[in-house]
Order: sequence, then C-alpha cells, then structure tokens
Amino acid sequence: MDKLIIEGGVPLRGAVRISGSKNAALPILFASILPDEPVTFLNVPNLRDIHTTVRLLNILGCETECSDGAAHTRPGALNPEAPYDLVKTMRASVLCLGPLLARLGKAKVALPGGCAIGARPVDLHIAALEKMGAKFELEGGYIYGTCRGLRGAHIHFDFPTVGGTENLLMAAVLAKGETVLENAAREPEVVDLAQFLVRCGADIEGQGTSVIRIRGVKELHGCTYPIMADRIEAGTFIAAAAITGGELLLKQCPVEGMDAVLTKFADMGIEMIQEGENLRVACEGQLQAVDVTTQPYPGFPTDLQAQTMALMCVALGTSTMKETIFENRFMHVQELTRLGADIRLSGNTAIVRGGVEFKGAPVMASDLRASASLVLAGLAADGVTEIQRIYHLDRGYERIEDKLRPLGARIVRVKE
Ligand code: EPZ
Repeated sequence: MDKLIIEGGVPLRGAVRISGSKNAALPILFASILPDEPVTFLNVPNLRDIHTTVRLLNILGCETECSDGAAHTRPGALNPEAPYDLVKTMRASVLCLGPLLARLGKAKVALPGGCAIGARPVDLHIAALEKMGAKFELEGGYIYGTCRGLRGAHIHFDFPTVGGTENLLMAAVLAKGETVLENAAREPEVVDLAQFLVRCGADIEGQGTSVIRIRGVKELHGCTYPIMADRIEAGTFIAAAAITGGELLLKQCPVEGMDAVLTKFADMGIEMIQEGENLRVACEGQLQAVDVTTQPYPGFPTDLQAQTMALMCVALGTSTMKETIFENRFMHVQELTRLGADIRLSGNTAIVRGGVEFKGAPVMASDLRASASLVLAGLAADGVTEIQRIYHLDRGYERIEDKLRPLGARIVRVKE
C-alpha cells in the first residue's frame, strides 16, 4: 500500500486545474447504459472509482474505455449482475440499479454494505423503485430486482438522497408515463446527470429544485458530454492555499455551486476573487474561527467537512462543526489529534479549539475526505507527516501529490 510523505511549512503558490467531478462522473457513466447509441464523455477525472466503474460497466455489457480524460461507451447485450468483489469497493455501484431495470427489466446488485462513514443503506432507492413497479428480494448479500417495464409514479423521498435521486432519474427517463420526485436532491452533480440525460433526448424539468418531473420517452440517443468540474476538489485546494498561507489560482473552478463553502471560507478570512472561470485564493492574515453545519445542497457539503476542520484547527478561536448527513464522519479527528489538534466530540458536533501549530507525525487515512484533511494538516505541519493507506485518497483525487508538488509542496508518494 502506498503512503505519502509530506514535509510541511511551505506556502503554496501557483496555478492548479480543477479536474472533472467524481460525483458527477460516476452516475453519468452508469447512465450511459440507457442510450441505444455510443456516448463520449470529456473531462473525466483519472480516479480509482472511475476505473472501478469502467470495469463494472464492461461486466454489465456496456463496452467502455477511458483514457486521456475521455470515456467512450458503446451499449451491447446487457448482463444484469454487478458482482460483490467490485461493489464492495465502491458504494456508488448501486447506481447501476436504475439503468438496468429501465433497460433490461432485471438487476442483481450486491448490497453495497456500509463504509467507514456510516451504514449508508439503500432503502430509499428500493422503496421508490417499488413505486414504479419494480419487485425486490434481498438474498445472500444481493439485491434482486425485476420489473415488467417501469411505470411513472409520484415519489416523495424522506431524505433528499443524492444517490436515490440519481437512481430514480435514470429509472424514470424510459418509463411509461410521468414520474415526479419530491424532496429530490438538488446537488450540482444531480443536475449534471439530468443535463446529460436531456442531451440524450430525455424529458426532464425541475433539476436543481426539490421537485423534478420526468416524462418517459421511448429511447435515448448518443451524444458527447463534458463532465462538470469538481467543487469538492476545488474546496480542498482553497483550504490548501489558506492553511499554508499561500496564494493559488484555481483554473476551471465551479464557483456557481459553491456559495455555502465560499461564504464560510470568506468568514474565516480567506480572500477569493473570481477571474472568469478561475478563482484566485489568498490568505495573508490569520484565519478566524467559524461555526459550520453540514446540510444537503445548497447547504455546506459534508464532503468538505473534514478539510474545513483542519482549517479550524489553525484558526484563531474556537469553532464548531456539526455533521448532519452521516452518522460516523469524524474518523479524521483522532488522526488530526495525533498531529496536535485539540478537538472534543459531543454527539454529532466537534468543538475545535484553534491556534494549533500542527506537528508532523505518522497518521492513517480512513476514508476519502478524511485523507484529504490529513494532507492539509501535513502541508501546514512543522516537520514530516507520513500518511498511510492513501488508496482512500486515490478514490477521489487525481494523484494529489502531482498537483501539489508544482505548487511548492514537499510531498512524495512511497510504495510500501
Ligand atoms: C453521495 O453519496 C456522494 N457520493 C457522497 O460523496 C456525498 O457525501 C453524499 O452524496 C452526500 O452529499 C457520490 O455521489 C458517489 P445520500 P450518497 O444518498 O448518494 C442516508 C465522497 O466523499 N440514506 O445523499 O450515498 C445515508 O445513509 C462521497 O465523494 C439512507 O438512509 O448519499 C446517508 O446518511 C462520500 N437511505 C445520507 O442518507 C438511502 O436509501 C446521505 O446519503 C439513501 C441514503
């Protein structure tokens, strides 16, 4: 397993290009099962989860190849089974459920199982698909779904589930009649999926709001579609500039989907100036404490919770971070503490005492975004930080050390 060695204390300076969004690319790649014709995707990030999805699509019979930031898919004879050995490595595999039921009328998908940040069931996906006429059995760790053609339904989600909204969007575009999704997720990545489907000929309105209407069409055609930029990677690099007291130009930064993040970061004293598609970030002064609560979009994204907590550690004053989306997303706290953080947990709230000077130490990555917070702390720390199990990081960040080193970071990847 690889590890990262970081010698901290260098203010980052220079320009970095924000990659395509992992959380838009994954559902959109699964949606390529739906059209009758080949599809080309641009701005596809080079990530472990993307490689896993490409492997899974080929197993499902959707011929897919991915290179140099583009992916090409060609529909073939579909196979309904998503095997456990792939699904267990990536929860998002459950997103093949909707497209398989829509195209094939059956699906056998290994239950994703929990992950480090929580149980993460798929009960909301199942209940909504049953309303559209699908029948499910759970057996031997697999979800067996069948239907004799999906029909439009009026669905209300108990929680604005991102994956649930995406699965239902993909199930509804070829269904008979109209489907209404109420309390739908409004994340920009959900909108990107809807825009891709519309470009293939789907009839969807309301994407980005809590009520999405989908009128089923007979078939979908191919297209070329550019994946949106990754707002979570962008937020991570803003935090990297701030925590090292440097100045970065983020190229192709998706500012429009980052209001809650940019507002909080500005409250902390981070200077951000939009320059066309780019965002210039600087942080001359001392960071200030803030209080943050994670919420479904357009609230503060849970995927930037860990990274923001690293910022809070070095800010002046005491901050609070309340996590309302996942029940166990504080795995980074114990590792940040090893680097000198002073954080007390009270239920789903972390009380972060600021003014800390991180000191380098060996730490362990536990999940994707927790790993990013450890990289940030290592970049600011006095001395050397060694981060083990960085396969977590590779799931969501394109060779982060190759992006950080040109900015002045002293960071190397070591094969263990
Ligand atoms: C997506 O996960 C993202 N993943 C997550 O990003 C992100 O944190 C999350 O949305 C919230 O924004 C991808 O897009 C691939 P949810 P998803 O369904 O779809 C509960 C990252 O770091 N829930 O909105 O799984 C669930 O347990 C990852 O890039 C149910 O109870 O998120 C969780 O507590 C991490 N039943 C909450 O809702 C269900 O049927 C949010 O889940 C579905 C969800």
